Amino acid sequence: MSGSPIGMFDSGFGGLSVLKALADVAPHEDIVYIGDSARYPYGSKSQDDVRAFSLEITRSLVEDFKVKMIVVACNTASATALEDLKRKFDIPILGVIEPGVRAALAVSSNQKVGVIGTVGTIGSGAYQHEFSTMAKEVKLTCAACPGFVEFVERGDLSSDQVHVLAERLLSPIVLSGADTLLLGCTHYPFLARTISDVVGRDVVLVSSADETAFDVAKTLEKLGLATKNIELGAQRFLCSGDPETFKTVGERLYGSKLGSVEKWPL
Ligand code: DGL
Repeated sequence: MSGSPIGMFDSGFGGLSVLKALADVAPHEDIVYIGDSARYPYGSKSQDDVRAFSLEITRSLVEDFKVKMIVVACNTASATALEDLKRKFDIPILGVIEPGVRAALAVSSNQKVGVIGTVGTIGSGAYQHEFSTMAKEVKLTCAACPGFVEFVERGDLSSDQVHVLAERLLSPIVLSGADTLLLGCTHYPFLARTISDVVGRDVVLVSSADETAFDVAKTLEKLGLATKNIELGAQRFLCSGDPETFKTVGERLYGSKLGSVEKWPL
């Protein structure tokens, strides 16, 4: 199976940050990426819906694209559906929650950590569970940040409006005295400057993309699934919404060309 592609999905464009990190760490791997842009955003959907969508996409990646591994490159889907997917499919399935927690723990020195994410991610309790499993002693403060994703999609990363919203939503993090803030949503790294202005420059912002990419590469090696290919890997992009919109927004957010984007039929 080592010659098969890696399958990756997100509710839309955000997971492209994980894809980018993975392409840096494992440049010879082929990747098939599905963005569920027709049903996006996941952050405000019910857990049942997110689980059903994740199951459908994973099944397609396994059956239609014969992938050797799945990367759930979406915090909301990882928080809600990862365990379910792992039970149902017989290939390695990795999410972004555990790598993000590991990265945050490596950085914090005062044992006070903040996590921000969508309403769905924070409400699922997945980060709370992971921190209590990996480091009981850490004092965790979580905050949902509804509205952040929409600002990023509009390309508004630093207006007064986004600043005011950030001040309101991040105040529990500021009050907690956390020295580390885990950005538990694919879109939040784009707001890093505004978030940092609000929480203070001393607070280290951590995103899970790089750590997830390292995890994927390590797991492929460990399981003998790493490609033997010596050429650069091919990347294939599909989305459930309008491919042209996906291409335009994806390229604007990630600053690199996506090539052609295909329609993934719902
Ligand atoms: N990709 C989602 C996440 O990381 C953010 C966008 C959405 O709400 O679908 O949680």
